[in-house]
Amino acid sequence: MFDQAQRLRELVDQNRQPTLSVVPPPPLPIAKHARTVAVTSGKGGVGKTNIVTNLAIALARRGKKILLVDADLSLANVDVLLGLQPKFNLSHVVSGEKRLREIVLEGPHSIRLVPAASGVQEMADLREDNLQTLIADFSDFDQEFDLILIDTAAGISESVLSFAVASQEVLLITTPEPTSYVDAYQMLKNLHRYTPHQPVHLIVNMATSEKEGRQTADFMREMADKFLQHSLNHIGTILRDPDVPASIRLQKPFLEESPHGPAARGIQQLATRLMNQTSNNGTSNDSEKSLWSRVIDFVKNGAVAHAE
Ligand SMILES: Nc1ncnc2c1ncn2[C@@H]1O[C@H](COP(=O)(O)OP(=O)(O)OP(=O)(O)O)[C@@H](O)[C@H]1O
Ligand SMILES: [Mg+2]
Repeated sequence: MFDQAQRLRELVDQNRQPTLSVVPPPPLPIAKHARTVAVTSGKGGVGKTNIVTNLAIALARRGKKILLVDADLSLANVDVLLGLQPKFNLSHVVSGEKRLREIVLEGPHSIRLVPAASGVQEMADLREDNLQTLIADFSDFDQEFDLILIDTAAGISESVLSFAVASQEVLLITTPEPTSYVDAYQMLKNLHRYTPHQPVHLIVNMATSEKEGRQTADFMREMADKFLQHSLNHIGTILRDPDVPASIRLQKPFLEESPHGPAARGIQQLATRLMNQTSNNGTSNDSEKSLWSRVIDFVKNGAVAHAE
């Protein structure tokens, strides 16, 4: 009897002993970077700026937090289409005159715009510690967004390539004209050289019919398969629509001015497909480095590390 009671007391006492278990440290936060998509083309004037601006609006209306990066120096620009007038740009941040958040503009549906047409080269020339501070600022800021859309200039200058190559995905715009798709193919060839596994989505803009869009895309896809072994995803066709130039004259996005027109329908379809693509191919948020550090890597070394 005594032995049993004694044994029970011992067991109870044992259970009262503070347990010295090792508590695992909390996992290190994994830097989550927003999905980055650059809009580019070979030839100029094919509709990049209009597409990126209206796509941003379509996605923002669906609740996505969108950051637009304007990396195009030309006059007909994202800020004009959104009715914004930037006074400062990235170069003012690089020179230390402004903080990053001071150059960011707010457009419709809380779209944020970073005017970055100039300043990238200066950024790459910064002293390493200053550069890292700036990149860290950008990375913090980028985390507030679901999607970063980048409007680039036409052609294959280093600055255009740096944004296109540094983005996780590219929207390559062409029209059905041979001069336009031959140049778009050249752009693809350049991208392929640096980032052979980058998903490239093709948009045929200003097509007279869906069929014409498909034919153009099929032709380009065959070329890309045959000569580059780079798969090209035809993500959409946007029809030629007189409401597009009409809305530009009003400095309004056509998605707001003419929401039921053919071009607006094309943009809505594009927005849906782009969103579906994320869950399907898992390309987003999987890169360890932020957009800006990859842009700078490219400008400095002509190469960018991509998560595959
Ligand atoms: N779907 C469309 N239907 C009719 N016109 C269009 C369409 N898309 C674009 N445009 C016209 O094409 C012109 C060029 O468009 P936009 O400025 O967007 O091209 P871009 O590729 O950004 O040009 P750049 O290379 O100079 O930056 C605009 O004047 C616009 O009116
Ligand atoms: Mg443009």
